[in-house]
Amino acid sequence: MSQPVASQALAPPPPRHVAIIMDGNGRWAKARGLPRNLGHRQGVDAVREVVKNCRKLGIEYLTLYAFSSENWKRPESEVSGLMDLLRLYIRRELAELRRNGVRIRVIGDRTRLAPDIVSLIEDAEAQTRDNRTLTLVIALSYGGQDEIVAACRQIAEQVSVGKLAPEQITAETVAGNLQTVGIPDPDLVIRTSGEQRLSNFLLWQSAYSELVFVDKLWPDFNASDLAEAVGEFQRRERRYGASGE
Ligand code: IPE
Ligand code: IPE
Ligand code: MG
Repeated sequence: MSQPVASQALAPPPPRHVAIIMDGNGRWAKARGLPRNLGHRQGVDAVREVVKNCRKLGIEYLTLYAFSSENWKRPESEVSGLMDLLRLYIRRELAELRRNGVRIRVIGDRTRLAPDIVSLIEDAEAQTRDNRTLTLVIALSYGGQDEIVAACRQIAEQVSVGKLAPEQITAETVAGNLQTVGIPDPDLVIRTSGEQRLSNFLLWQSAYSELVFVDKLWPDFNASDLAEAVGEFQRRERRYGASGE
């Protein structure tokens, strides 16, 4: 008996939103006897390559975990090295990102960032606001728990002024008060370096994300690794709690 044609012909759709925990820069540098900051610098090349290749794969949203709320605990020299790289990345790449139709959005706690970085980010967001080819979300000074706490506070505020009744609070209310409002949840979360944890990344939004763990360290991650992770995603069956039958 042959299969119905339709079920054979339909290729699984690519992920609309891919989110990446870019991990392993320090180990990449250590393996070469280099300072950790050189690993971070090398990681920027991998960022460029991944951003460039998203649209070819049909990806509309790419979120990159660049710096977590916990990464502030690192030595001052490493933190300032990472912030310098961010400045450099935005300054050097903004024109090209604009040309390529990339919209930039930054999520995370801006109150902890240097004022010049806040200005750079605001400027990049404003200049790319109307771009639609790819939305690049940079998670910077970002923590999923902090984000949910902030949403709770905003909702509590609305309740306390009588704009909202507690029984009106739904999952949509919470999602609508997160910094990712308007961005679809990530379909695929990739983490490099072999670690298998979320480290406070998109906790609410990843409720039904497919997780793919890649052994390669972030500076070694390239276009074909991205394509492979997308292929792995397309072989998965997403059930959202249903029976799959
Ligand atoms: C990821 O690489 C980059 C950031 C967290 C900013 P790491 O710096 O965590 O590298 P490892 O995990 O120490 O190898
Ligand atoms: C997560 O990596 C944060 C980023 C990639 C920006 P970490 O290296 O900070 O995570 P842990 O400490 O191993 O969980
Ligand atoms: Mg790490």
